[in-house]
Amino acid sequence: MPETRLLAPDAAGLRDAAAILHAGGLVALPTETVYGLAGDATNDHAVAAIFAAKGRPRFNPLIVHLADLAQVDRFAALTPLAQRLAAAFWPGPMTLVLPLREGSGLSPLVTAGLNTVAVRLPAHPVARALLAEFGGPLAAPSANPSGRISPVTAAHVLAGLGGRIAAVIDGGACAVGLESTILDATGAAPVLLRAGGLATEAVEALGLTLGSPRTDKITAPGQLASHYAPRGRVRLDVTAPEAGEIWVGFGPCPVAALSLSQTGDLTEAAARLFHALHEADTLAGPEGRIAFAPVPDTGLGRAINDRLRRAAAPR
Ligand code: TXA
Ligand code: MG
Repeated sequence: MPETRLLAPDAAGLRDAAAILHAGGLVALPTETVYGLAGDATNDHAVAAIFAAKGRPRFNPLIVHLADLAQVDRFAALTPLAQRLAAAFWPGPMTLVLPLREGSGLSPLVTAGLNTVAVRLPAHPVARALLAEFGGPLAAPSANPSGRISPVTAAHVLAGLGGRIAAVIDGGACAVGLESTILDATGAAPVLLRAGGLATEAVEALGLTLGSPRTDKITAPGQLASHYAPRGRVRLDVTAPEAGEIWVGFGPCPVAALSLSQTGDLTEAAARLFHALHEADTLAGPEGRIAFAPVPDTGLGRAINDRLRRAAAPR
C-alpha cells in the first residue's frame, strides 16, 4: 500500500474519502470520541480489511456509524427505550446495541454473527459530512493498532496505521477523546456495556435506572465455547478429507467443495468465513460432516482459527 493520504476536511477531501470508501478502501475519520477506522459496513472485504489493518486477533463486533434516525431504522429496530435515549443523546458519544433487522445487508463480520447491532450517530461535523457524502453505514472501531492507545489526532492515526490504510481526514483533535458509552437498549431498561464519553449520570437524569449486564446473557461471541456452529460435525486442520465430508479449502485444494481463499489470502478468507460456514452447513445438512483445511495462525488467521475452533467445539 502506498503512503496514507492526509485529506483536508473540505469538499474535495470528503469527496475523495467517499470515493475510497465506495471502492472498499479504508479511511480514518475524526469523531468527537476518537478517530475511527471506517469502511463500508455492507462490504465483507472492507470490514475484513479493518481487522487486518488493526491487527485485531478476534472479530469483536464493530460499531456502525449512521447519519440519522431514518438510517438507523433501516438496519436496527428502534425500541421505545432507544427512541428515548436517541432523542436525548444523539448525535453524540453514545452507542446503542439494538436488535438487528433481518436482511439488513450489513456484513456478518460487523455483528460477529450476533442478532444485535451497535449503532451510533456521531456529532463531529466532519464525521457527519462524510456520512452524508458516503450515503451508507460505516463500520468504525478506533483507528489504532490492536492493543495500543486510541488516537485522538490525525498524527496519532498516521503514527499507528500510516502505510496500512488509504487515507485519514484531518479534523483536528477529538473533543471527547474517550470512546462512546455503550448501552444495550434491546430491553425495557438500559444496560451499561462499556463506560465512555457519555456519563451514566446523564442517562439516570432521564429517570432511567441502569441495569448491570446479565452474566447468563451472551453479549459478545468470545464468551461462548461453541459458536458459529453448523449443525453437522466439524473437523479442523484436515489435509485429506474423508469420503462424504464437505471440505472447505484454503490455498490450492483442488477437490474442495468450497474455499476460504484459493490464493491463500487471509483477508479474503476472513471476509468469506461466515459465508463459507453457512454454505457448508447447507451442503452438509443436519447430519453431515464438514472439514476445514489448515489456516495459518498468523494475522487474521488467528481470528479465523478462533472462530473455527468455536464452530468445531463439542456441544
Ligand atoms: O467512540 C467509539 O465508540 C469509537 C468511535 C470510532 O466511534 N469506536 C469504538 O469502536 O470504540 P470499537 O470497535 O473499539 O468498540 C466496539 C465495542 C466493542 O467492545 C464490542 O464489544 C461492542 O462495541 N459491541 C459492538 N457490537 C456489539 C453488540 N452487538 N453487542 C454487544 N457489544 C457490541
Ligand atoms: Mg478500540
